[in-house]
Amino acid sequence: MNAGYSIRWAAEHGLPRLGFLALRGVGDPFARLLSGDEGYDDPYSLIDQLRGAGGVQLTPFGYAAFDYELCREILRDRRFGVRVPIDPAVPLLLRRYAERVVLPPNPIEAPSMFAQDPPEHGRLRKSVASAFTPRAVSRLGDQVREVIAELLDAMAARGSADLIADFAAQVPIALIAEMMGFPAADRPLFQRWGYAVAPLLDVGVSWQTHRHAMAATAAMKDYLAAHIEKLRREPGDDIFSLLVSTSDQTDDELLSSASLLLGAGFINTTNLIGNAVPLLLSHAGQLDLLRLEPERWPLAIEELLRFDPPIQMTVRRVLEPVEFDGGVPLEPGKSVLVSLAGANRDPVKFPDPTRFDVTRPNAGDHLSFGTGIHGCLGAYLARLEALHALPALFERFPDIRLDGEPTRRPLSTLHGYAHMPARLKSR
Ligand code: HEM
Repeated sequence: MNAGYSIRWAAEHGLPRLGFLALRGVGDPFARLLSGDEGYDDPYSLIDQLRGAGGVQLTPFGYAAFDYELCREILRDRRFGVRVPIDPAVPLLLRRYAERVVLPPNPIEAPSMFAQDPPEHGRLRKSVASAFTPRAVSRLGDQVREVIAELLDAMAARGSADLIADFAAQVPIALIAEMMGFPAADRPLFQRWGYAVAPLLDVGVSWQTHRHAMAATAAMKDYLAAHIEKLRREPGDDIFSLLVSTSDQTDDELLSSASLLLGAGFINTTNLIGNAVPLLLSHAGQLDLLRLEPERWPLAIEELLRFDPPIQMTVRRVLEPVEFDGGVPLEPGKSVLVSLAGANRDPVKFPDPTRFDVTRPNAGDHLSFGTGIHGCLGAYLARLEALHALPALFERFPDIRLDGEPTRRPLSTLHGYAHMPARLKSR
């Protein structure tokens, strides 16, 4: 393992982790929300405590915003960027050294568009955006239906399933792998890498988790580099072939873009579908309404996204001095946590926000796909997949029952289940 990785871990995770553990020990709600050990199961009561008086707050780990309008404004304001600095509390020498360590191309580090400010961001996003427009995505409808029908048949034959591994994860991984021209046999690899890299969006992860993520990014890099070489020789009609042959992206940019599309295209949609199942089963009246009036599903998907968002938070860097009404002045160079889950539960925007209501008229205003220049590129694709997967699951297995408590993945940023055993009785 590259020695530089341990320096990066120490600066980005190791020292903040010590801070979390100390503050969590005295019950600090922010440390509890971010530590991933507690905040993942029911982050919402912690968020309500943290929302407090509103406005941007100064926390031991930077600024934080939980109100809808503030979060929306920060995400749309060019005075905030996405290249988030290592915490200034980390000793300068360690910070400087850590900033020079280059990790293998991965979804969340530059040159990934996710971590690039304009103008680089616009160039990278433009080269893939045409594959994700509503029109391009709507052409995938038949493919989505086919994938789902095969998965449901396989689950029906067994009579029981882990709804995450056997269904929620399989739908998006099949779609994104197909869109990008990867062989079906390699899908388990993408899942393994995706789950290994996911914790890197949190702060304060353990050395073991970080090492595992680095090993996955290195393996992913080798695999994707070989795939790019192959597509240069024999291009297919997938979006990645198009990207390799027509865009002006460097090899490192291509590797980051591919890993971002694979990662973002899989885990978040898995979590949307997975989070929806227990929520709908525990609101039987609302599920009955959707069965009777299936035209309500699109709004129901928005309410599912609002109520239990797959990405709970994101981070921005203050680029210029900013002062919002009623909050602390924001100093350049510091980071701001933007709580998407907090925005979605803001009572000013969503009356009675803790009520799950598939008929909520403004559910679609949620911030679960972010907003502004980094707003989710795959939002139409994710919606299309959920819109086919969920009605088909409940239609095929009207008596579906969870078999015990589903277990959450212990992450703070990406919010979803690891396992969800279920008993199925098909029509
Ligand atoms: C329910 C599923 C999904 C959710 C909740 C979700 C959520 C988000 C959010 C919140 C952001 C913005 C992050 C920020 O501003 O810091 C984002 C960005 C992004 N998402 Fe998604 N996403 C989902 C599915 C997908 C899919 C299926 C794809 C592609 C196949 C995708 C590709 C991307 C990309 C490329 C970005 C970065 C855009 C940029 O930086 O310009 N996402 N997503």
